[in-house]
Amino acid sequence: MSTIDVRPLDPDDLRGAHALFGAALHHPPADDAAWARTAGSYSPGRTLGVHDGDTLVATATSFPSEMVVPGGAVLSMAAVTRVGVRADHTRRGLLTAMMRAQLEDVAERGEAFASLRASEAGIYGRFGYGVATRGRDVRVRADPALVRADAPRGGPVRLLERAEIIPVLRDVYERNALRRPGGITRTDGWWGMALGRRLEVDRAHVLAVVHTGPDGDDGFAVAHLGDEPGAAFAERRLDVDDMHAADIAGTAALWRFLLGVDLIGSVQARLRPLDEPLDLLLADPRACAVIGQHDEAWLRIVDVPEALAARGYGGAAPVLLAVHDALRETNAGVYRIADGAAERVGPLGGPVRPELECGVDGLAMAYLGDRRPSELVASGWWTAPEPEAVNRADLAFGTAVSPWCGTFF
Ligand SMILES: CC(C)(COP(=O)(O)OP(=O)(O)OC[C@H]1O[C@@H](n2cnc3c(N)ncnc32)[C@H](O)[C@@H]1OP(=O)(O)O)[C@@H](O)C(=O)NCCC(=O)NCCS
Repeated sequence: MSTIDVRPLDPDDLRGAHALFGAALHHPPADDAAWARTAGSYSPGRTLGVHDGDTLVATATSFPSEMVVPGGAVLSMAAVTRVGVRADHTRRGLLTAMMRAQLEDVAERGEAFASLRASEAGIYGRFGYGVATRGRDVRVRADPALVRADAPRGGPVRLLERAEIIPVLRDVYERNALRRPGGITRTDGWWGMALGRRLEVDRAHVLAVVHTGPDGDDGFAVAHLGDEPGAAFAERRLDVDDMHAADIAGTAALWRFLLGVDLIGSVQARLRPLDEPLDLLLADPRACAVIGQHDEAWLRIVDVPEALAARGYGGAAPVLLAVHDALRETNAGVYRIADGAAERVGPLGGPVRPELECGVDGLAMAYLGDRRPSELVASGWWTAPEPEAVNRADLAFGTAVSPWCGTFF
């Protein structure tokens, strides 16, 4: 291969692209039934590929979504996924070519953000992605009596029949997803991929419950029995795949339910919000172990002026922030960020002297409120030509709740 030609794939190429991506993650190809359920999760015209001769050797796709930012505005987003390069074509720049082409495509579509989950932490920073949300893995001893008697009780929790799982959860999700910064919308294709395939093709057992609050159904949890071959009933683990609640009462009710499921010894949940106060709900906080903490959403701010203008800010005093973006020069400049507004007030190196400077990846780390600018300055992600501006930036970017996405893709 001399030149790398990134092209949108035809619908007929998608099954091959899916198999290529699967193989890159060491997964087998989908059989006909699995592919029939998966094909719909590819959004038309959004899958890119690179060929070597007639052979597809690299692919990346995305689906359209929307994300809520601090202050409540909802902006369009490309949810990037299924990125893979054939094992005999890696480290020749194929991913780099695809990421550049995809970024252009996302910008042309007018989408403000691209976001993804990274298989490895070293891959996407060079393309301007930064870790914008993180989550905690927790394991709790299964005992409903652990939840404090005076913890919020919430409303009833009911088990769903298989046929109603997707329609009911989709409805509850749509009404509650955009509460917390970082929350995103899900497509029908996402539901088909995440749950439809497990229910209809794998015929897996799925435990799905809904919480009803004062205004109707407002939270849910989806779980399955963890894979621990040979474990006695009392030692088995219930793995939570998906859990959202509108408030702390719903959170408490769902956890109380999960901890009371018979024939399990513990409940484990991955990537919960950093501020989910599970230990505060338990009489014995040590019954809840934090067993990991990881990056969740990697965010690429594709349109910095739009993203900065859309976000709400705390504090009253303005901050002058220089943003650098090697891949998208249109984003570069000095921005004045103030209570209620943010706008570009000059080019880099111009007469307006910035108080703080960051790359577009470092901006993503503070944008949803996950990292304070002072942490980013202290660790070298941002620089502070005007050190006393750091406190003002902390007040401007700070959020009352931890940002969290809660949707894996
Ligand atoms: C990760 C993957 C997509 C990279 O593709 P690639 O075509 O080899 O990437 P490139 O050749 O464009 O590499 C660009 C740069 O990133 C670096 N890089 C690539 N993959 C990396 C990784 N996994 N860890 C750290 N650096 C990596 C390269 O060394 C290169 O650095 P350089 O510019 O300093 O030389 C590919 O290895 C792959 O398919 N892996 C398995 C599936 C996977 O993890 N997909 C991602 C799902 S989120």
